[in-house]
Amino acid sequence: MSQSACQALVLAAGKSSRFKTDKTKLSYSLCGQSMILYPLRALQELDIHTTLIVGYQQDVIKGIIDKAHLDVQYVEQKDPRGTGHAIMTSQQVWQKEHIIVMNGDMPLVTSSLLAQLIREHTTSNAVASFVISHNSDSTLTGYGRVIERDGQISIVETRDSGVESVDCCINAGIYIFKQSFLREYLAHLKPSPVTQELYITDLINLAGQAGLKVRTVTAPFDEIRGVNTFRQLWTAEHIKRSEIIGTLMDSGVQFHAPQSTTIELGCTVGAGSRIEAGVELKAASRIGKECTIGAGSMITNSTLADGVHVLPYSVITDSTIESSTQIGPFAHIRGNSTVGTESTVGNFVELCRSSIARKSKAKHLSYIGDAHIGSEVNIGAGTIFCNYSAQKEKHATIIKDHVFIGSNNSLVAPLTIGAHALTAAGSTITEDVPEDALAIGRARQVNKLGYALIKKAQEKEIQP
Ligand code: UD1
Ligand code: CA
Repeated sequence: MSQSACQALVLAAGKSSRFKTDKTKLSYSLCGQSMILYPLRALQELDIHTTLIVGYQQDVIKGIIDKAHLDVQYVEQKDPRGTGHAIMTSQQVWQKEHIIVMNGDMPLVTSSLLAQLIREHTTSNAVASFVISHNSDSTLTGYGRVIERDGQISIVETRDSGVESVDCCINAGIYIFKQSFLREYLAHLKPSPVTQELYITDLINLAGQAGLKVRTVTAPFDEIRGVNTFRQLWTAEHIKRSEIIGTLMDSGVQFHAPQSTTIELGCTVGAGSRIEAGVELKAASRIGKECTIGAGSMITNSTLADGVHVLPYSVITDSTIESSTQIGPFAHIRGNSTVGTESTVGNFVELCRSSIARKSKAKHLSYIGDAHIGSEVNIGAGTIFCNYSAQKEKHATIIKDHVFIGSNNSLVAPLTIGAHALTAAGSTITEDVPEDALAIGRARQVNKLGYALIKKAQEKEIQP
């Protein structure tokens, strides 16, 4: 396997000055994943040992990588002086015969492109190989241009050389070198007279001048886009998102307005499901088969089983929704809540740290917090679970199977309501209710007969 003779260096020490913020651009995310993780995961797929060259905001970058549990070695490039200087700082980690070097700011790169480059390089016995792409957009700046004259290949940086940006062959920023070549030629790099930086691209020029074999592999431009500005981040994210949505479409998911839909990397949707306009699926959420996700709904880190209908503008976070349930419109489910099969959580109902078993209903205007609700329970409209005490402690409410909670109840926790019990509309329930009982917790109504007539007569007397 040719990969086993390779190791990789990913360049991530640069200052991100074209982003014009105080954050390293590599920490910004596309489709829910930080930019730096894309090249690292592509290399990981090929099982290639990777060293990251860090400098600017290295703690931020290391934090992202730790959280993603990626096995990466670090080398610090103190005082970054260009992509060539970045390689120089890493000499102590060179072990393999071939060294892959790639920019950290190319999130659309694929492992198959890297595999192709490795294959081409190792089978051709070149000293250096790199990826090129064609783009004739004359407004495209910031890429090195690849020029071949008299059989000799070279890369020129547009900002340094005044080369016409219409030269449409560009340098992608992915290279593979023989370690022996790097050892001999890296010392020959000279700073750019314009930026004073050492350029990795000059290694290709040195190889060409020495008459050594250099190979190229051509990739579609969309796979190798570099991200130097927010505008380029937006374009790259748009491409990635289209790819995610397109793949789901191919697997049988219908989208009403895909251009308005956000689906993050790692989210799944089963066949026969329908995603309406403005939906956001985030943080590896999993949607089953034959579901509907209504317009404007946002689902984060949650699992929905088959046949779930989420009506518009619902928000589901960190929760599990079992099969054939109906949620929303305007429902808010969060805090590790569970909604059981065939249950309904209706409009303006908030569910937090709570579970509802099967075939239960809370259809209108409720807050349900720290509750465990059994099956076939009905929660009347406007019911509030009073889970938060004046001592600032949270308390639980347990409602057993087949309970009927009347409308506009306040259920003051801690509280247990026994199976088949009922509560009267408008009750404030402060004590446990035994099973099969009816609890009435409200002031008795008094009708004052003729009161309106007496009031009218009094008003007449006062008038002059
Ligand atoms: C680079 C290439 C250009 C190519 C383009 C592709 C050079 C000189 N030019 O330009 O030919 O077309 O990528 O996108 O390489 N970095 C360091 N240390 C440094 C400087 C940069 O680690 O001292 C890192 C950056 O964090 C970044 C990567 O190297 O991830 C590339 O640097 P960047 O400044 O973005 O290079 P480009 O101008 O895009
Ligand atoms: Ca770049």
